[in-house]
Amino acid sequence: MKTNSFKFLFLIAFLMTLLVGCDKKPKTATEKPSFLKDSITGEQYRPNFHFTPKTGWMNDPNGMVFYEGEYHLFYQFYPDDNVWGPMHWGHAVSKDIIRWEHLPIALYPDELGYIFSGSAVIDWENTSGFGTKKNSPMVAIFTYHSMEGEKAGTIDFQTQGIAYSIDKGRTWIKYQNNPVITNPGIKDFRDPKVFWYAKENKWIMSLAVKNHIAFYSSKDLKSWKLEGQFGADNGSHDGVWECPDLFPLIDQNGVEKWVLLVSINPGGPQGGSATQYFIGDFDGNTFTTSEKEIKWLDYGADNYAGITFSDIPENDGRRLFMGWLSNWQYAREVPTYSWRSAMTIPRELTLQETENGYIVNSIPVEELQSILSKGIIEKNNEFEVLAATYLLEIDKITSEAFSINLANRLNEVLKISVIEDKLFVDRKLAGIGSFNDVFPAIHEVPLNGIRIHKIEVFVDKASIEIFINNGERVITELVFPNEPYKSISISGDAELVTIYPIDSISEN
Ligand code: FRU
Repeated sequence: MKTNSFKFLFLIAFLMTLLVGCDKKPKTATEKPSFLKDSITGEQYRPNFHFTPKTGWMNDPNGMVFYEGEYHLFYQFYPDDNVWGPMHWGHAVSKDIIRWEHLPIALYPDELGYIFSGSAVIDWENTSGFGTKKNSPMVAIFTYHSMEGEKAGTIDFQTQGIAYSIDKGRTWIKYQNNPVITNPGIKDFRDPKVFWYAKENKWIMSLAVKNHIAFYSSKDLKSWKLEGQFGADNGSHDGVWECPDLFPLIDQNGVEKWVLLVSINPGGPQGGSATQYFIGDFDGNTFTTSEKEIKWLDYGADNYAGITFSDIPENDGRRLFMGWLSNWQYAREVPTYSWRSAMTIPRELTLQETENGYIVNSIPVEELQSILSKGIIEKNNEFEVLAATYLLEIDKITSEAFSINLANRLNEVLKISVIEDKLFVDRKLAGIGSFNDVFPAIHEVPLNGIRIHKIEVFVDKASIEIFINNGERVITELVFPNEPYKSISISGDAELVTIYPIDSISEN
């Protein structure tokens, strides 16, 4: 009895200390945004080898630039919720373009507005005067979106601003005379992508203006002059034009052509968002093309608003690209919780002259080799893989009709099939899809006579990226299986089937 009452007193004392202790703790409600307190995490969909923010909402990649051994990735970021909101530029750096280190937010919204998409350049000659020639400034060029303006019913609420960093992107100072381009009275006026046009010693900005791209030039990144315009009568116009990028590429015969990427939402080949491209010429003022057909950089549903890195060293010379691995149709509803969205794997864009004209190929960057475990050659058409995430490589395909099923123990299955001149990706029964009506669907990709000899499929926890014939066609799709796809079955003939397991490299 005595010992029991002692135990009881001890328990009371223990509970009291807990209570007092709790009281001293900072109130979590003021610390954490409420969406992070929910018990649903969706962490099972945290990718093993794709960039995601630790928490919060992410959309477009922004300001991708290489400087002093680091790739910089900025991105559209709302830290306080898992849906789109007041836009910041989040920031991460990588030494190998694969493994990313999270850095503090680079740009916060201010009295001129939210910080929308844009680009960053190294101002080597210090044309802006923000740094010195020895310590060249990194300059970010972005769109200000004034929410007050939009709410007040005006149409001139998007303007262009700049900011600079003289400490390798770690801290940023906004230019005091922002905006550097005011709005001419057009509602959609955004996403500046800037490059140095050495031939005429000037900066060129491509800007998405509703249904076309406007080109501006500048000597100092501060004062801009409208040069030319392109596109009102070209390409797809089933949605608004966004996130342009203009750059030269050299084909296999040494011929230089200019490529213009233009994202469009909605109106993509699978509905919703997608990126089209044009191949033509740039004369320092405007872009022109004689192409008639519409070309998509990626035929999947989930690669949007991608742009390329600036200032890749000449001795490297690659044109490196990353896109947002989602689609505005359902990006806000996908079943992850503490964060939303990932970036695609980085890709190298190359130019190829084919019998049917020029195309831009997307090739997984060679740095990805470093995350692949030793390849396992599969002799059977049906087999199990041990790893949850992997690269499936099917080479020397000899049959015209071909199909690949990726399945799990719950009988969820993602089907890829090639029938006649089309490739189909069926994610109807591939996992969770009920969060949005359009998500579970069969996506059809035209092959336009391409004879498939190689298929690579990068399988991560919540996405697949299919590369056909070293990037002649790319299909990027989100999938939310309740368990990893570990059962693979292939129908069709191929000489070499290899699985490369991929371990987690995520910092999150
Ligand atoms: C593209 C986009 C851009 C805009 C940004 C806003 O996804 O709509 O045009 O700058 O997202 O977050």
